[in-house]
Amino acid sequence: MANTVLVGAQWGDEGKGKIIDFLTETADIVVRSQGGNNAGHTVLVGDKKYILHLIPSGILRPEKVCVIGNGVVLNPVAVVKEIDGLRAQGTSVEGSNLLISDAAHLVLPYHSRLDEAKEEAMGKAKIGTTKRGIGPAYADKASRVGLRVGDLLEPEVFSRKLAERVREANVILEKLGAEPLSFEEINAEYLAAGEKLRPFITNTVIYLHQALKEKKELLFEGAQGTFLDIDHGTYPYVTSSNTTAGGASTGSGVPPHRIDSVLGVMKAYTTRVGEGPFPTENADVTAMLHGMGREFGATTGRPRRCGWFDAVATRFAGMVNGLDEIAITNLDGLDSLETIRVCIAYRLDGKEITHFPTDYEKLGRCEPVTIELPGWKCDTSQVKTFDGLPENARNYALKLAELTDSRLKIVSVGPHRDQTILV
Ligand code: GDP
Ligand code: IMO
Ligand code: MG
Repeated sequence: MANTVLVGAQWGDEGKGKIIDFLTETADIVVRSQGGNNAGHTVLVGDKKYILHLIPSGILRPEKVCVIGNGVVLNPVAVVKEIDGLRAQGTSVEGSNLLISDAAHLVLPYHSRLDEAKEEAMGKAKIGTTKRGIGPAYADKASRVGLRVGDLLEPEVFSRKLAERVREANVILEKLGAEPLSFEEINAEYLAAGEKLRPFITNTVIYLHQALKEKKELLFEGAQGTFLDIDHGTYPYVTSSNTTAGGASTGSGVPPHRIDSVLGVMKAYTTRVGEGPFPTENADVTAMLHGMGREFGATTGRPRRCGWFDAVATRFAGMVNGLDEIAITNLDGLDSLETIRVCIAYRLDGKEITHFPTDYEKLGRCEPVTIELPGWKCDTSQVKTFDGLPENARNYALKLAELTDSRLKIVSVGPHRDQTILV
């Protein structure tokens, strides 16, 4: 395997964690380059279930190295908790297999509180964030007032910068009617977390370039999905980072021409959690999947909105990410259906369009134009080879790849490692 970027091609939760875990077998290093603990990546290994938020899913394979790159926003208290949780489940997490960039920005308690207070103040217009403080942390980064992971290693510097930031944040919080924060409490909690993280913190750009020289294979684990991208997503109903393939480069310091391929992960249908337009949303599909106990958020537990596969969207995802190949997950979710709908165009204000509108209000007015494909009406969850799938299931997966302008590489028929079919 060459250096590969894996991205979500829809609105997040496409099954990236599962596919990363599968592909890590042949990679050396797994890198997160954006997002924070708004992500929730589910991986099942044997009878153990892991939900990873900040630590790359590669951590579950002991001989691999995981890197949290400079583009991530990191809550050190949350990452310590995640490390402790993994260790309690028997996973080794040491300075030898997890590296954290000293340039990654910190998520501080005022970020989460601002996130929450702003969402509340917006009422019906809210974004539906995970309330993890991701937007305010990236806003501070862009405003050049953020604190970084490296600051934790210099307690005096950290405390000085923090005191100033807490003072400013409390003025805003009070205006929003939210509780002010205590500098002393945050200072003590974060410095304690910083001490625990000291063995992991390093200049990951230098580490990754050394790894490139040694011809190590890198796998970039995207978080969120294409339509949550701050530039290419359904703005403002997006997250605050570049979730598309370019983010892997800026968020890690690995130059674009060192990346060999881009793999898009997409469900065989579509889901979205949080507010914002979703043209193929469908109450029957939602009821069917929720009835099967599926599609509840890995980070917040919120029920995900569900709908038919949207090929207008995935074709756009194919463009902005340069998808060479795709992995289709959750094919088994459609096992019971007689017929399956796939959206191939939108009807906007009486006209048919085949491109994804930039403006969210226009997207909100789009009605899906769908084709109907025959279902296969049998259990695919135990199938091990592509040829072993029912013909209609094979044709369905190939059709999604064709509509996305990409090659079909993986079909996933269940959450476990051995429910993964290489095409
Ligand atoms: P991520 O954020 O992209 O890693 O995805 P999540 O973990 O948030 O959500 C994907 C969900 O689908 C998780 O519960 C996975 O265990 C599950 N999953 C992934 N692939 C498959 C599949 O092919 N079939 C089934 N039934 N579940 C899957
Ligand atoms: P993974 O990596 C699905 C959504 C939130 C909200 C919007 C902004 O598991 O696919 P934020 O807290 O980031 O400011 O929220 O983005 N969102 C996700 N939806 N999967 C995720 O991550 C998400 N991370 C953020 O629901 O709509
Ligand atoms: Mg998720």
